[in-house]
Amino acid sequence: MPDIQPDQSMQQIQEQRIRLPKLRDRITTATHAASWIEDGMTIGMSGFTRAGDAKVVPLAIAERAKTEKLKISLMTGASLGNDVDKTLTEAGAMSRRMPFQADPTLRAAINRGEIMYVDQHLSETVEQLRTRQINAIDIAIIEAIAITEDGAIIPTTSVGNSASFAILADQVIIEINLTQSLELEGLHDIFIPKHRPRREPVPIMAVSDRIGSTAISIPPEKIVAIVITQKTDSASTILPPDEETAQIASHLVNFFKEEVRDGRLSNNLMPLQAGIGTIANAVMMGFIDSPFEHLTMYSEVLQDSTFDLFDAGKLDFASGSSITLSAQKSNDVFQDIAKYKDRLILRPQEISNHPEVIRRLGLIAINTALEADIYGNINSTHVLGTHMMNGIGGSGDFARNAYLSVFATKSIAKGGKISSIVPMVTHVDHTEHDVDIIVTEIGLADLRGLAPRERAQKIIQNCVAEPYKAMLFAYLREAEVRGGHTPHVLEKAYAWHSRYRETGTMLETLEHLKAAA
Ligand code: COA
Repeated sequence: MPDIQPDQSMQQIQEQRIRLPKLRDRITTATHAASWIEDGMTIGMSGFTRAGDAKVVPLAIAERAKTEKLKISLMTGASLGNDVDKTLTEAGAMSRRMPFQADPTLRAAINRGEIMYVDQHLSETVEQLRTRQINAIDIAIIEAIAITEDGAIIPTTSVGNSASFAILADQVIIEINLTQSLELEGLHDIFIPKHRPRREPVPIMAVSDRIGSTAISIPPEKIVAIVITQKTDSASTILPPDEETAQIASHLVNFFKEEVRDGRLSNNLMPLQAGIGTIANAVMMGFIDSPFEHLTMYSEVLQDSTFDLFDAGKLDFASGSSITLSAQKSNDVFQDIAKYKDRLILRPQEISNHPEVIRRLGLIAINTALEADIYGNINSTHVLGTHMMNGIGGSGDFARNAYLSVFATKSIAKGGKISSIVPMVTHVDHTEHDVDIIVTEIGLADLRGLAPRERAQKIIQNCVAEPYKAMLFAYLREAEVRGGHTPHVLEKAYAWHSRYRETGTMLETLEHLKAAA
């Protein structure tokens, strides 16, 4: 990303980045800006999957919390980079967090019950704020590339919930980030739905439709402090595709080829949404060597694969709420953002994840499961039913409303000691009603039009490897003897998880252990 030019004076920076002159006297230090924050306040910060987060004021809040009683409720778009969640947690500066996180230190504090975490559909947070169903935002802290002549805020690499936070907050602190190129101006499309019950439809008819403004309009008087920063976004932590994720991608590509052959999809498919993480990114990479052309994305996070697909000439347009890239990809993309800009839009997350738009456009939603059960219920969030991993994020917004809802997972985790397909999921994020396809490296189960007993046969047969396959068929046979629309042996439904907790593996017998070795 571009640095400040050595010959760039503070005056030039101010002219380019704080275009409303009367706001220039609000420039201050992070420490001084943090002094606006009071104990017990609810703070809304920019940041979505490590992109466009406020980077220096939160750390100054953490510093204060080391020496005085200062605990905030923190709302963001999604997860943060720059160790912001970690630092606030370690300083004891956070009592409540929503709607998403992905930080190991914060995760541990949540699982110890020290920080109250509200894991929420990402499209819903600002709806609840707007209607005063949850605590109002006192102060918003928003990263921006610039403030316009009218005092409007131009965000950086994410929009997330920033627009509504700034509009709804009493006061706003801006972090102007000089490492973020002014070329980003024009990328954002800020649209705020009107109040209900007389709300109009969100007028997006195609992924490339622009329906709002390029900056967040607020009364400039609300801006109480402006801090100049030069900290870059944290790089994404996803791993490159491996053999299993490549197999998952290949099964999906073959499935889509059949859908095209049978006339249910055309060769440009439908707009694609891909979830966060290594698996979703790898699945999208699989489209590079596919026969599909003129693809589009209507997604939430745009990861490396989006730009690989652009470069491969496969993708025509991508709409998201943030751009989160690996270090290398970030350099390549942001050095040359002009190359992609007319094919990209960043929207507020309530619009990128809007049920109405997802249903209208007919998305193919591809999200990731921690575990799935034999009937197709999905757990995306809770390890062994109790311990939070990250959160549901936008996966529920998309899965419920998509044209086709796909969940991908590796069939095993932790070296085979855990089966990702289990008799009954220990926590339900997505019910069987919202899941059309389950795919693992073993194969793909097309569940459309199937009743529970048929779904179980398909999932076990197509998605599970031995010895878990035999174990699941044995469970299903025993359950079917008991009968029911969705047969279970309730006292054994969580036996696999209990066994893992007690013995360190879900495998049942010595023979299974030998077979797996
Ligand atoms: N039980 C326990 N742990 C499991 C598991 C299971 N059934 N399946 C996977 N894991 C562990 C892995 O071992 C890995 O652990 P590690 O970090 O200690 O190595 C971790 O979960 C991540 O798994 P990985 O296979 O690397 O997948 P990923 O990076 O693609 O992430 C999710 C998968 C489910 C955690 C991630 O996609 C997520 O948080 N999803 C929910 C939010 C979401 O879908 N958002 C998208 C909306 S647009």
